[in-house]
Amino acid sequence: RVAGPSVLVLFGVTGDLSRKKLLPAIYDLANRGLLPPGFSLVGFARRDWDHQDFKQIAYEAVKEHARTPFREDVWTHLSEGMHFVPGEFNDPGAFEALAMAVKELDANRGTGGNYAFYLSIPPKFFETVVEQLQASGLADPANEHGGFRRVVIEKPFGHDLASAKELNDTVHRVFPEESIFRIDHYLGKETVQNILALRFANTMFEPIWNRHHVDHVQITMAEDIGIGGRAGYYDGIGAARDVIQNHLLQLLALTAMEEPTSFSAEAVRAEKAKVLSSVRVPGDLSQATARGQYAAGWQGGVKVRGYLEEDGIPAESRTETYAAIKLEIDNRRWAGVPFYLRTGKRLSRRVTEVAMVFQQAPHLPFSQTDTEELGQNALVMRVQPDEGITVRFGSKVPGTSMEIRDVNMDFAYGESFTESSPEAYERLLLDVLIGDPPLFPRQEEVELSWKILDPIEEHWATRKRIEQYRSGGYGPDSADELMARDGRAWRRL
Ligand code: BG6
Repeated sequence: RVAGPSVLVLFGVTGDLSRKKLLPAIYDLANRGLLPPGFSLVGFARRDWDHQDFKQIAYEAVKEHARTPFREDVWTHLSEGMHFVPGEFNDPGAFEALAMAVKELDANRGTGGNYAFYLSIPPKFFETVVEQLQASGLADPANEHGGFRRVVIEKPFGHDLASAKELNDTVHRVFPEESIFRIDHYLGKETVQNILALRFANTMFEPIWNRHHVDHVQITMAEDIGIGGRAGYYDGIGAARDVIQNHLLQLLALTAMEEPTSFSAEAVRAEKAKVLSSVRVPGDLSQATARGQYAAGWQGGVKVRGYLEEDGIPAESRTETYAAIKLEIDNRRWAGVPFYLRTGKRLSRRVTEVAMVFQQAPHLPFSQTDTEELGQNALVMRVQPDEGITVRFGSKVPGTSMEIRDVNMDFAYGESFTESSPEAYERLLLDVLIGDPPLFPRQEEVELSWKILDPIEEHWATRKRIEQYRSGGYGPDSADELMARDGRAWRRL
């Protein structure tokens, strides 16, 4: 799979995402030989830069963050196709200049009138940019070249159901649904795609993947970092809107959905939408949710600030940096099996995983003392950082008694495969250029996810206080209490 001739126009090229992920991913794709020779990259931003400044910034980003080794010849070739257009998002003149620039690239580099516009900008600018693309003719596929027009948007897709619909209407006024690529970078991760391979390419797992065998499911996305320099984005948004609405609910959908009829975008998205529409938020939200805000603490031997002391965070902020939610799925496969989702910043370590925790054996023909250390069987899909799958089960401890203890059977990507995993953004950018949509959520999924989250956010909005948890720890006590009420416990971080 190699992309055809095309121009990628990157709006917001001076931002963090561009520097850390997008520019390095483009270089890595070039390095792997997946970009066509004439591929061109146009940066657009409100900066007084020329082409050379843009190339220098991109060079530094690539040197620092690219996955693949730096090769002078690859870089030289890629940078020959890099251009910069300075301008304000609301300046029609700047968009005319952009239109001229891409047409010149079509003429000089054979990019065939194929344009992908990547909006790595705050959502408040989406409308302006999309309208300018239309007004300047850039969004119009029926020009003399007849090439493709695609638009890539980054979350947040709104901050609730109503605003998500508005945002969608705005983009739809200019681009049809098949031209819209919504990025949820978790779907670009190998280990996330592997959830479907594990379930539907094998026979061992699916027969026990249901309420008859599974006791509950835990989906965890723990981070050790704080909010860094993202106060402006994060405050007022919080952990649930930042990652549960998208990444964690996508993990839930892939884990719980039925087998799609094929791996076409339509079939996969339809099954995800079906299971998301069966998700039920428990009635008593004070019992089924927990949230907290990180206080100062220690992490990796370094003293770190609390959320309220971070630059740009108002002292009275009640934005959560940790959220835990219990959900139910009302269908024949999952009725009565709780799905517990949790995420938090400044926790003891970075780990994302989906754990299927199985029911206890109905009867144990061993003495109680021999099984004291036996837990519940579990199948853990380790999304990151230690990518792989673990099956946890009881085994006899070597010796003269019948003592049984839990052990792990592991599959690790690094040991089983010599192929290296592309970075999530590499995979997704390539899919945009190829026009391959299965890994991009459809508007319906976005809206269904907000339907799940909206009542929870409304409930939290009525709360005057927010619990603090120590940085470098395991999250707020209320999250442990949520599990304890159900006679369960979170897996250790
Ligand atoms: C982003 C969130 O979507 O995902 C960030 O906005 C979070 O707050 C990041 O840190 C985590 O991504 P990853 O790939 O490092 O798990």
